Amino acid sequence: MKLPSLRDVNVGGKTVFLRADLDVPLTKGISDKRQETRIEDDTRLIAALPTIEYLLKQKCKIIIGGHLGRPKGIEENLSLKPVAERFLKEFKIRNLKLIKLGDFDGWEITDRIFLLENLRFHPEEERNDLEFSKKLASLADIYVNDAFAMCHRNHASIVGITKFLPRFAGFHLEKEVTNLTLAMENPKRPLVVIVGGKKIETKLPIVSKMHRIADYVLVGGKIAEESQTFLKVRHEKIIGRKSILLIADLTPDGLSITEKSLYNFLDMIQLAKTVIWNGSMGFIGEKEDQFQATRKIAEAIIAIKAFSVVGGGDTVEFLNRIKLLDKFSFASTGGGAMLAFLSGEKLPGIEALKHVKTI
Ligand code: 3PG
Repeated sequence: MKLPSLRDVNVGGKTVFLRADLDVPLTKGISDKRQETRIEDDTRLIAALPTIEYLLKQKCKIIIGGHLGRPKGIEENLSLKPVAERFLKEFKIRNLKLIKLGDFDGWEITDRIFLLENLRFHPEEERNDLEFSKKLASLADIYVNDAFAMCHRNHASIVGITKFLPRFAGFHLEKEVTNLTLAMENPKRPLVVIVGGKKIETKLPIVSKMHRIADYVLVGGKIAEESQTFLKVRHEKIIGRKSILLIADLTPDGLSITEKSLYNFLDMIQLAKTVIWNGSMGFIGEKEDQFQATRKIAEAIIAIKAFSVVGGGDTVEFLNRIKLLDKFSFASTGGGAMLAFLSGEKLPGIEALKHVKTI
C-alpha cells in the first residue's frame, strides 16, 4: 500500500500540522512532596522523532497535535505537559511550546514548534466535527499523519482535517504500514494471534475477524472474560474455518489466566511460524509474580524464532521494562489500530490519506 509520502513533496518552509501518537502510559508518583505524573514508556514519542527532525531540517514550522488518555472535558492530570517536557529536555527539541488551541495567536519570529494541549479536551475532536477540523487545518499549510496508533479512530485530527489540507504520511506511519503489510500478506503458517489486555469494546469485534487470517487465536487478559459469552455464539463458524480459538480461564481473583490456560497457550505458540500479539494476560504490577504469565508468553514467542509482531502502548511498555522488546521482529505503536489493520479492516486515518491533494 503506497501512501502519499513526505519524501515526495517539497515541504520546505511550510507550516505543518503533525498528528503524532502522544498517548503514552503514565504513572503517578510523588517527587519533592508534590504529586507528579510520569511517563512510563516513551516509545511512541521516539517514533515521531524522525519526522519532526526532518521537518525542522526542511525549515518547516510545526504544530504537533495529539491526545492523552480518555478525558471527559478538561482533566489536568491528562495534560500533555509531561510530553512537552520530554520533547524539550530529553529529545532536545528546542523552543517547543505547549499551548491551548484557543490561545494560539500566531508565530513570533523565533517560534518553530508548538505542541497543542490534549485535543480530547475538546469534545469536537472525537465527534470528528467539521468546524473543529477546519479550525485545526487553518493553523497550517499541510497535514502529516504520523499517528498509526490512532488511525482506527474517526476523529477530527485524523480524518476531518484531511478534507482541508494536502495530506501525507509521516515516516513512522509508513514504516508501520510496510511492516504490518508484510505480516498480513502471505504470513508463514501457522499464524498465531494473541489478544489480551483491556479496551474490550475495541478488541472484541476484531478477535472474531482474526479467524479469517489466523490459524490459532488465543485470548487472555480482561478481554477473555467477555469473549466467553460473546464468541460462543460464533463457535460453529469458527470450526468451519478450521481456525482454532482458545479463550483462557481467569484465576479466581481475575488478575491473570490460569496455569492450565497458560500452558495451552504455550503449546500453541510452539507451532507458530508467525506470531501477532497485543495485550497482557492480566494485571501487570511491579513484582515478578504480578506478570509471570505475560512474561512466559513473551519468552515463548522469542524462543521459537518466528516472525513476531507485537503492539500496543501497555504491551510495549511492559516488554521494554523487562528488556525483551528488541527481541521481537517488529514492535508496532498501535494496539487496537494494529489488530484492526491486520484483520483486514480499512482504517479511517489511512483511507483519508489516500487521495492526494498536491501542493
Ligand atoms: C491507543 O492507545 O490505542 C490509541 O492512542 C487510541 O486510544 P483510544 O483507544 O483511547 O482511542
